[in-house]
Amino acid sequence: MPSGGAVAYHNMSPSVFLLFLFVTVPFLPHSALSNPLGFFLNCGGTNEVTVDSLKYIPDGSYTKVGTVATINKTDLLPTLTTLRYFPNTSSRKFCYTFPVIKGNKYLVKTIYYYGEFDGGKQPPVFDQIIEGTKWSVVNTTEDYAKGLSSYYEVVVVSPGKKLSVCLARNEHTGNSSPFISALEVKSLDGSLYNPIDFSKYALVTVARHHFGGDDIISFPDDKFNRMWQPFKDENPVVISNSNISSSDFWNLPPVKAISSGITTSKGKTLEIQWPPVLLPSSYYYISLYFQDNRNPSPFSWRTFDVAINGHTFYSNLNATSKGVTVYAAQWPLSGQTKITMTPSADMPVGPVVNAGEVYQILPLGGRTQTRDVIAMEDLAKSLQNPPRDWNGDPCRPKGNSWTGVTCSDQFVARVIALNLTNGGIAGTLPPSIGNLTALSHLWIGGNKFTGTIPDLHGLRELQTLHLENNKFEGSLPPSIEKLPKLQEM
Ligand SMILES: *[C@@H]1O[C@H](CO)[C@@H](O)[C@H](O)[C@H]1NC(C)=O
Ligand SMILES: *[C@@H]1O[C@H](CO)[C@@H](O)[C@H](O)[C@H]1NC(C)=O
Ligand SMILES: *[C@@H]1O[C@H](CO)[C@@H](O)[C@H](O)[C@H]1NC(C)=O
Ligand SMILES: *[C@@H]1O[C@H](CO)[C@@H](O)[C@H](O)[C@H]1NC(C)=O
Ligand SMILES: *[C@@H]1O[C@H](CO)[C@@H](O)[C@H](O)[C@H]1NC(C)=O
Ligand SMILES: *[C@@H]1O[C@H](CO)[C@@H](O)[C@H](O)[C@H]1NC(C)=O
Ligand SMILES: *[C@@H]1O[C@H](CO)[C@@H](O)[C@H](O)[C@H]1NC(C)=O
Repeated sequence: MPSGGAVAYHNMSPSVFLLFLFVTVPFLPHSALSNPLGFFLNCGGTNEVTVDSLKYIPDGSYTKVGTVATINKTDLLPTLTTLRYFPNTSSRKFCYTFPVIKGNKYLVKTIYYYGEFDGGKQPPVFDQIIEGTKWSVVNTTEDYAKGLSSYYEVVVVSPGKKLSVCLARNEHTGNSSPFISALEVKSLDGSLYNPIDFSKYALVTVARHHFGGDDIISFPDDKFNRMWQPFKDENPVVISNSNISSSDFWNLPPVKAISSGITTSKGKTLEIQWPPVLLPSSYYYISLYFQDNRNPSPFSWRTFDVAINGHTFYSNLNATSKGVTVYAAQWPLSGQTKITMTPSADMPVGPVVNAGEVYQILPLGGRTQTRDVIAMEDLAKSLQNPPRDWNGDPCRPKGNSWTGVTCSDQFVARVIALNLTNGGIAGTLPPSIGNLTALSHLWIGGNKFTGTIPDLHGLRELQTLHLENNKFEGSLPPSIEKLPKLQEM
């Protein structure tokens, strides 16, 4: 039975709130998560490649746009030797779409290695988007200058049966092109990082370290292929002497990541500067993993207080040989972070800490109402040449909607205008267009639409309708005359 602790820290309040939460998790069947864990794409590749015993497949089935390039450098990981880039300057986004299970939790990882694919010297800077939310700017300049690839990670719950990961130009991209080298979408256990309300937030990985070790830990030690970087400072390292189990810890850290730790001598306070990066002022999800490394016995436990930047994170934490996880769902951090562990009186050993994770809490930017998504995707399918950016969320992020689509401002957005005037578009208008019940303006004049005009009686909000200069057959359906708000046709 995993033990957990939760801490709440409210910045505005003069006192620190402590919420002790003892959680029981039912046994979780993991068999469904055995390899393949999800989607592993070798972007721009034509062959399957293997890295760390994981197979990365070509990405062509998951995106309809972009151009492929090869990086002619030796000693690169096979996933970095090809990439896909997106030169189109008028597309509002470039998307990959994955079939997923609605309501499941996913860890999405994007990997970038520039390799001067465009003949330039500096990697382009652009945005990445998860579902309807601008996730972050991609700036690989610093890593690339050091000869390194860059990766970004986000944890999301899919609101529907498709999950989209997109790149987009921003004001810094200029004439260069967004690009991507590899992409992973991995299924996570529902129990992971649970206190977060994933209908409103996503978690962006900031740091994930195991303390006292030397190597990076990932798949197969971490069955979700989370990467645990080694972290060491001047404090002494201890190695666990007991048979620890990942499932005894909240968030299921791999055994290897919790079997070493850093400590200090009896009676002393253990202080670590971690994570080893300066953080932008924001709210963070923090989890820390502790385990008494001594041989299991009735006396193999120690208690201490944990503070972050001087604020109590957890009082009287009892680190046993079985281990314990403590987390804070929403903790404000800014700049440098210091974690202080102060032993309780009379403890025969100093405090110990084994691993930690920090995620920035990313408020979601909303999404398009499912019914409108289905109608828009149906429309896209009935066009021979839909605009190239008709993928991902039709309305969001704001500024990256599908070309010709205008939406309402709510968190769950509605399509309120569709304007494909003079777009050179061929295809038919499917009956499902009548399901866009918030549509006020439908302008598709000057295209090559054929077939009949479907029943539009559902478009109760429609004010202007332009169908002229197309190749429609038959007459206007009588329902059009009954539309209450229609002013212009
Ligand atoms: C790598 O080599 C291939 C084949 O020789 C060439 O087509 C491609 O442009 C080269 N790529 C770069 C980034 O130089
Ligand atoms: C990208 O990162 C480099 C190196 O950190 C920095 O100098 C540059 O200003 C950044 N570019 C943008 C557009 O933020
Ligand atoms: C360690 O724990 C596992 C599972 O709880 C058990 O199967 C195994 O026998 C244990 N090994 C030792 C050496 O105690
Ligand atoms: C710490 O946990 C151990 C094992 O559950 C228990 O025996 C011990 O009494 C606990 N210590 C304190 C101070 O609660
Ligand atoms: C770029 O995208 C736009 C809109 O999505 C499309 O109309 C245009 O044909 C594309 N250009 C190229 C060169 O593919
Ligand atoms: C639709 O687009 C055309 C051409 O760009 C423009 O003239 C027209 O005003 C637009 N209609 C609406 C309702 O925005
Ligand atoms: C309109 O939406 C409803 C509910 O989502 C669906 O059952 C129906 O099939 C849709 N109509 C068309 C013509 O696609």
